[in-house]
Amino acid sequence: MPGCSPRTGHGSTLDFPAPPRAAKACAILKTGAVRGRRFGSGWQARRSSGSHSLDRVITMRLATILAMLGALLAWLSATTFQPESSATAAPAGTTRLQYVGAGSCASAACHSQPVPQGTTGCEYTTWASRDRHARAYTVLLEDRSKQIEKNLKRLPSLADAKPEENQFCLKCHALPLPPEQQGRTALLLDGVSCERCHGPAQHWLARHYLPDWQRTSATEKQRLGMYPTKDLVFRAELCASCHVGTTDADPIHDLLGAGHPRINHYEFSNHLAQMPPHWNERRERARQPGIEARAWAIGQVVSARAALELLEKRARDRTSPWPEFAEYECAACHHDLREPSIREQPGPGKPQLSALSWNTWFEPALPYALDGDLPPEFAEIRRLMAERYPDRDRVAPLARAAADRLREALPRVASARYDEPDQLARRLAAVADGPPPTGWDGAAQRYLALTALYRTLGELAPQRRQPSILASLRTLHGMLEPPPGRDVRNPHRLSLERFREEQQKIRDQLGR
Ligand code: HEC
Ligand code: HEC
Ligand code: HEC
Ligand code: HEC
Repeated sequence: MPGCSPRTGHGSTLDFPAPPRAAKACAILKTGAVRGRRFGSGWQARRSSGSHSLDRVITMRLATILAMLGALLAWLSATTFQPESSATAAPAGTTRLQYVGAGSCASAACHSQPVPQGTTGCEYTTWASRDRHARAYTVLLEDRSKQIEKNLKRLPSLADAKPEENQFCLKCHALPLPPEQQGRTALLLDGVSCERCHGPAQHWLARHYLPDWQRTSATEKQRLGMYPTKDLVFRAELCASCHVGTTDADPIHDLLGAGHPRINHYEFSNHLAQMPPHWNERRERARQPGIEARAWAIGQVVSARAALELLEKRARDRTSPWPEFAEYECAACHHDLREPSIREQPGPGKPQLSALSWNTWFEPALPYALDGDLPPEFAEIRRLMAERYPDRDRVAPLARAAADRLREALPRVASARYDEPDQLARRLAAVADGPPPTGWDGAAQRYLALTALYRTLGELAPQRRQPSILASLRTLHGMLEPPPGRDVRNPHRLSLERFREEQQKIRDQLGR
């Protein structure tokens, strides 16, 4: 298998006992195709025991990997502000502030009032009862986390695994405590809690409910440690810091191979729509018409930049496995041998087993968000990454240069108009008119782009909603779903030609 031999960090003699089957491996559509744009739910890696040659390992673990690919489906479903470090998306000067803990926000007079979700006062209740972030730490105490930790560190038994103490896991599953607060487990228990997204409250807790807070400037709030979550660029960077990864919390293939859901691949506006809102969305939309489409565009650029920064680090850091498998389309190595798959029928747009395709997730929809071409470095990076042993010294500066170009493009993208129906319809048409996607990742990004733009169009101009477009979107959504009656998701069942035809229908319905 190409690209595997020089790889470090993978043993072919790993011994994995079989943990319980994933109950949710074949999840079904939870919310409507278009509302939540949500597909199924989690998965859990099932490991076969014994040692195998590399090729055999891959063949035998196929079912697992396909189940794993189910995780991909799970996620489907501005200003000049610069964070000090991409590592935590924390504004300058806030990284050493103290955290007070979510308990401080939970008073019945404050963020835990008996009011409907989405109204002021609902925040704590919504987060604690409906938001998965609230259990991001406790999930580390479960056996499936222990299993990941055991696999990752090759520990002899589950009992030796303490993922809740692994700083690597904690970076994304809890608060980033400053040194003085290290060891205060009570603060970690709340997982991804209020202050992870709104900033350490040491200096603002006692002030932010006083009448004069409303008159406090945004800059002053930030100086006190509060994060500017209203700023969509900041918000996209915040979410990407865990949902794409950062240079010091890098979700490499070893983590995925150990059984962690695939996360290095997501779409911001979709994740935002899936997070149970504890803020007033109606007010937010009134303040920023077209917010969903704009979030999609900003998210494309921010995610791509975050992913390129990861690539740069992976290439520069000699202790990091290289080539990093998480950079490639998963199906390039993990393909279904039992039935004819698109991988085995060469043709235009179908990636070849012999060529590893680099970056299948953050690129397909990016040109539409940039309103122009991809950074020129992309082509060269792709060429280098397809080589058997990519030259990391050449990849690193190219990845940096491409990331810098995206950083420069961001203010333009963030201020582009997404509140004007004709323009939105044109953008929608451009995406629908695009070339056939080259694989599942690209098809998923295409679908999510179409949905974000169509939903925004329908919101700004309800008279332009068309049942036939909605029907096409549902069909596209259905194509990304696993075939019925199967325990695992098989992305190879996706017919890219059929996908393209349906996409073209949307194009035609929009009129020329
Ligand atoms: C780069 C950030 C990051 C790191 C590092 C990380 N995780 Fe995660 N983890 C996530 C995200 C994001 C999700 C949610 C994925 C999704 O469903 O979209 C997640 C999901 C999970 C889940 C599934 C949760 C569920 O409710 O289904 C488990 C279990 C888990 N992580 C364990 C771990 C363990 C153990 C480690 C350390 C060995 C770890 N994670 C390291 C970001 C991270
Ligand atoms: C995963 C990130 C995240 C977590 C965790 C989180 N929030 Fe938020 N919060 C947001 C985003 C995004 C918004 C919407 C943007 C905004 O209004 O600032 C928001 C909005 C708010 C608002 C409305 C602000 C306004 O001016 O309308 C309040 C109040 C709030 N959050 C409080 C909390 C509290 C209390 C908790 C913990 C119980 C919490 N948040 C946890 C991300 C988060
Ligand atoms: C500190 C890291 C971190 C940040 C910041 C963060 N998340 Fe998460 N997110 C996680 C982890 C970890 C999970 C999985 C929790 C679990 O299931 O136990 C998760 C889960 C989710 C889920 C549920 C995924 C699913 O498949 O159901 C959504 C949606 C989500 N996050 C959206 C967001 C959005 C939107 C933002 C930004 C406003 C954000 N997250 C910021 C770490 C983070
Ligand atoms: C270049 C080839 C290659 C690519 C690309 C690749 N993998 Fe792997 N993967 C492997 C090899 C080799 C193993 C077996 C070695 C091991 O278990 O660590 C493996 C193991 C795994 C396992 C563990 C399976 C099991 O049952 O033990 C999972 C899960 C996995 N990969 C997920 C992914 C995901 C998700 C992607 C895409 C982001 C991906 N892989 C991309 C080569 C690859």
